[in-house]
Amino acid sequence: QKLELELEAIEKGGYPHFMLKEIFEQPRSIMDSMRGRLVAENTQLTMSSIREYATRFKNADRIIIVACGTSWHAGLVAEYMIEEFARIPVEVEYASEFRYRNPVIREGDIVVAISQSGETADTLAALELAKSKGAMIFGVCNVVGSSIARATDAGAYTHAGPEIGVASTKAFTAQVTVLSLIAMMIAEMRGTMELSALRQLMLEMEKIPAKVEQALQLDKEIQAISEIFKDATNFIYLGRGYNFPVALEGALKLKEISYIHAEGYPAAEMKHGPIALIDENMPVVVIATKDSSYEKIVSNVQEVRARKGRVIAIVTEGDTVIPQMAEFVIEVPNTHEALMPLISVIPLQLLSYHIAVLRGCNVDQPRNLAKSVTVE
Ligand code: G6P
Repeated sequence: QKLELELEAIEKGGYPHFMLKEIFEQPRSIMDSMRGRLVAENTQLTMSSIREYATRFKNADRIIIVACGTSWHAGLVAEYMIEEFARIPVEVEYASEFRYRNPVIREGDIVVAISQSGETADTLAALELAKSKGAMIFGVCNVVGSSIARATDAGAYTHAGPEIGVASTKAFTAQVTVLSLIAMMIAEMRGTMELSALRQLMLEMEKIPAKVEQALQLDKEIQAISEIFKDATNFIYLGRGYNFPVALEGALKLKEISYIHAEGYPAAEMKHGPIALIDENMPVVVIATKDSSYEKIVSNVQEVRARKGRVIAIVTEGDTVIPQMAEFVIEVPNTHEALMPLISVIPLQLLSYHIAVLRGCNVDQPRNLAKSVTVE
């Protein structure tokens, strides 16, 4: 027993929990997920599985992404990137729905299964179904040799390393990293992006690990904010564009480990429901970084303030507008808007972690949840 505890302490590498260790590993796991695949200087992208199926990717009628949980959120980010850069229609589906709803699947479709564990039963069944209909199946998995990785025609591994905490953190950013490289590669092959714009995006990608490192320095600040909100019973998370999936992921992290009810919403949808919940006790986390929907989200922050909601805003460094409206402001480094989820998710991971710790929750093994769900 004592030996086991000591071993665990060593595995945690000085961190009190695996989740915190894994959050702090992200500069490294993102780097590992792009290593050898991206040389921005020569606008060079290498992913042999994509090259091998170049004709399929170039001529794909549609890409269908199937996944569950956090991996599904990574899929939503990928949808925006692939449609924007590569101009192929993308659908993102919950694997559990897809497998049972008699979906239209054609031979020209590519089905991308995203799974950290590579063992999620619903995701595996969804890709088996797509395969039987003649679609090409591509996997984005973290665990080498896992069932999903073996069932696919081709794939690209995320190199996040083993993820122990049940709430996924570094696997998510590794998935977004690999999926962004895939989007760039398809864009390059299809000629849907100016080379200079592609190169700019790749240069930004290379800087992500350092910027994530910078975002991690917000830890103490976020811990202080967590003290203030630890007894809240509800949270709303809002984001637009590329930050919409981040809002969903932030809310999911909080639910999973702190058992606080949280909802993630596209900021503009707030007026169709959740706005009714806002009063002076409601914490509203708004991801409002400087991007093409910035002006719009500023209005959404005003709408929350007008109803006395307590705004915690994630903003781009140097923003002077939102800090005048929000009660708490967390500044993150700037990047290309498509890559912002890799940075803006970091403070949300830390927020959920600290709130859960302050509430005395078992962050690494939250109640009722499993790391990999191998049954339906
Ligand atoms: C479980 C885990 C989540 C994970 C989801 C999908 O619910 O607790 O963290 O996102 O399964 O898992 P996968 O291994 O397929 O990414």
